[in-house]
Amino acid sequence: MEHRIIRLEQVDSTNNYIRQFSEDGLVVIADTQTAGRGRQGRSFQSAPKAGIYLSMLLKPKVSLDKLFHLTPIAAQAVCDGIETVTGQRPRIKWINDLLMDDRKICGILTELSLTGEGAVEQVILGIGINVNQCLEDFEASLRSIAGSIAMATGRTWDREALLAAVLQALDGRLEAWARDEVDLMGYRADCATLGRQVRVLRGGGERNAFAEDIDEDFALVVRYEDGSRERINSGEVSVRGLEGYH
Ligand code: BTN
Repeated sequence: MEHRIIRLEQVDSTNNYIRQFSEDGLVVIADTQTAGRGRQGRSFQSAPKAGIYLSMLLKPKVSLDKLFHLTPIAAQAVCDGIETVTGQRPRIKWINDLLMDDRKICGILTELSLTGEGAVEQVILGIGINVNQCLEDFEASLRSIAGSIAMATGRTWDREALLAAVLQALDGRLEAWARDEVDLMGYRADCATLGRQVRVLRGGGERNAFAEDIDEDFALVVRYEDGSRERINSGEVSVRGLEGYH
């Protein structure tokens, strides 16, 4: 897919900026964001020229249920791109945070815009990758969980080379997605959450469980201590590892 790339020095959020367009495949990338957004209303710290802060506009012709596969598929593509350049493959904390050395190095925020009739008009895929940050670049409250590719590999990396590799990997994975192909085996192999004890947080309550499987919709299947099972969709609940951030 052709990508026109708009490069900005600074913007509030690339996900906000790209909303004024409607060009399939358009990419907006910024050197820094003053109000980078994460999931669940959180902010995403975007230290100047240290990371890759990008949004891609897509007009996919897929059904709504398949749209929910987009974010984990994008996570796989970012893993591919990082592995191509650095030789090290990040792991995925279900459902779409990337980890290196057990620290979060990438987050993905997918936002849909709907037509008046409620159909999906376009999708904005927002990807933030921490490339060359050092620990001090993150605010104190994040320092136990945030990391960067540089922190995990012991050297800095060319952000342009990473951007090119990530875009190429995204193209391949998105084409497969459009053909209805989902690499579930690959996702399971990348997933750091699978096979671990987790804490399922919902509303005020929390329960310990074992992360047993990822089903064909990327839902996490957990088994509770009483033997009962539950299929968890992202957004509904948070899942935390019991040891470390995975
Ligand atoms: C998360 O970790 O919860 C998701 C973080 C997503 C951050 C990216 S950076 C580019 C794009 N613009 C934003 O404001 N957010 C996404």
